[in-house]
Amino acid sequence: APSESVADALLRHYDAHARRLPWRIPPGASERADPYRVWLSEIMLQQTTVAAVIPYFEKFTTRWPDVAALAHADEAEVMAAWAGLGYYARARNLIACARVVADELGGRFPDSEEGLLALPGVGAYTAAAIAAIAFGRRAVVVDANVERVVARLFAIATPLPQGRGAIREATDRITPDARAGDFAQAMMDLGSAVCTVKTPQCLLCPLRPQCAAHAEGRAEVYPVKPPK
Ligand code: ADE
Repeated sequence: APSESVADALLRHYDAHARRLPWRIPPGASERADPYRVWLSEIMLQQTTVAAVIPYFEKFTTRWPDVAALAHADEAEVMAAWAGLGYYARARNLIACARVVADELGGRFPDSEEGLLALPGVGAYTAAAIAAIAFGRRAVVVDANVERVVARLFAIATPLPQGRGAIREATDRITPDARAGDFAQAMMDLGSAVCTVKTPQCLLCPLRPQCAAHAEGRAEVYPVKPPK
């Protein structure tokens, strides 16, 4: 129904269509996502696609199933296992972060954005993503996919990068108190599969009734790029 909230419409769609990714718990399952697996996946996904990350994620979690195992790993072996993912500073921070969590935090990841942000290699986006996905915290999670979905939903016409403030505020307004992690991942899935850069599949979109850009008949112009 057009009067349904964005979050309700999106979560209803996610319950039926969520991608099954190895670091995700299926929506509606009773278990909680493992913070170690959520953290590891988010670090790997920082500059790398989901398809490229999956085999590395499987390799790492088989070899080092928890944060203590990774903290005590041989550094050269971790770097060798990372080979091919690129951005090797991520791998060095990965080891440093595992050691902080294992040796200084009793093996438990912080459950707040602020605590997570203090860890090596964890920036604002990653802290928000882990807080929401692993701990169910209400956090505003904005990556490039979410940015595009929200710019279109609200037809935010301010060019990037200035438009990012309005995009973040709008994301904050539509983020639900409950299921913020599912909401964030549903937005990511929508941006990657439906609300794509070049030819958005508006006919398949659960948010079409609420989308200002679709109403204008020009979803693909958002987010507006800076003038050259
Ligand atoms: N990109 C970054 N984090 C992601 C996640 N949790 N699911 C899908 N794509 C992502």
